[in-house]
Amino acid sequence: MEEPNETDRQATAPGVLFELRGVERRYQRGSAPVVALHGVNLDVPSGDFLSIEGPSGSGKSTLLLLLGALEVPTAGSICFDGQRLDRAGDAALTRMRAERIGFVFQQFNLVPTLTAADNVAVAMVALGTARAERRERARSLLEQVGLEHRTDHLPSRLSGGEQQRVAIARALANRPQVIVADEPTGNLDSANAAEIMRILSELQDDEHPVTIVVATHDEGVATRARRRIRLRDGTIVDDVATGT
Ligand SMILES: Nc1ncnc2c1ncn2[C@@H]1O[C@H](COP(=O)(O)OP(=O)(O)OP(=O)(O)O)[C@@H](O)[C@H]1O
Ligand SMILES: [Mg+2]
Repeated sequence: MEEPNETDRQATAPGVLFELRGVERRYQRGSAPVVALHGVNLDVPSGDFLSIEGPSGSGKSTLLLLLGALEVPTAGSICFDGQRLDRAGDAALTRMRAERIGFVFQQFNLVPTLTAADNVAVAMVALGTARAERRERARSLLEQVGLEHRTDHLPSRLSGGEQQRVAIARALANRPQVIVADEPTGNLDSANAAEIMRILSELQDDEHPVTIVVATHDEGVATRARRRIRLRDGTIVDDVATGT
């Protein structure tokens, strides 16, 4: 018998991390359905650095929620590293998010009562990482984002750019395969936005590069990506490699 939270598996082309086919996400608003995404077909190779652009309401956040296993499509299939997200139960999705996906949001979403180091360390609790290792890894991740001198600060004592760097360190805590970032520079000035994008780009230089998907309104941010996807009215209207 299958384990209750076993996810359906499906073969995809080699090196493909996400495979979306005919993806639709529909919401019910009052009596009227809203189709936030429809007819989305997308392959994301492992290690890609993707920007998702498009006007407000075009479906960027909806697409990120689906890639981040926070929501499931109302039609179509999403394969993540060979596993069908659209057929997975809540327990499997929760486990996948904790183990394999890192999230970065416009509002940083740090716990205000925890230090920078503890904000990063708590992300590792779900995976049962030992306390000493959580601390050690939190420090090394904060060092990686240039915050080794801020480990014991509360978020309120950090600038917006610093808070977002803590959020990136937290997103990396469990060595995710993918970082999903929704307008990560939306609350930052251009210098801090550039710094955040530099840090994200550096994740790509590793031997085991992280796949990065960033939704953004900011042209300067999007040009740092390797591939730019544009949405309009819930469908992909442009998909170009930048040559970066
Ligand atoms: N939970 C929901 N319930 C109802 N409608 C929703 C829900 N979430 C999104 N929508 C609708 O789906 C469409 C796409 O929304 P989405 O948030 O994905 O757009 P977006 O491109 O991220 O916009 P923005 O640039 O403003 O963040 C919009 O029409 C939105 O109103
Ligand atoms: Mg959005």
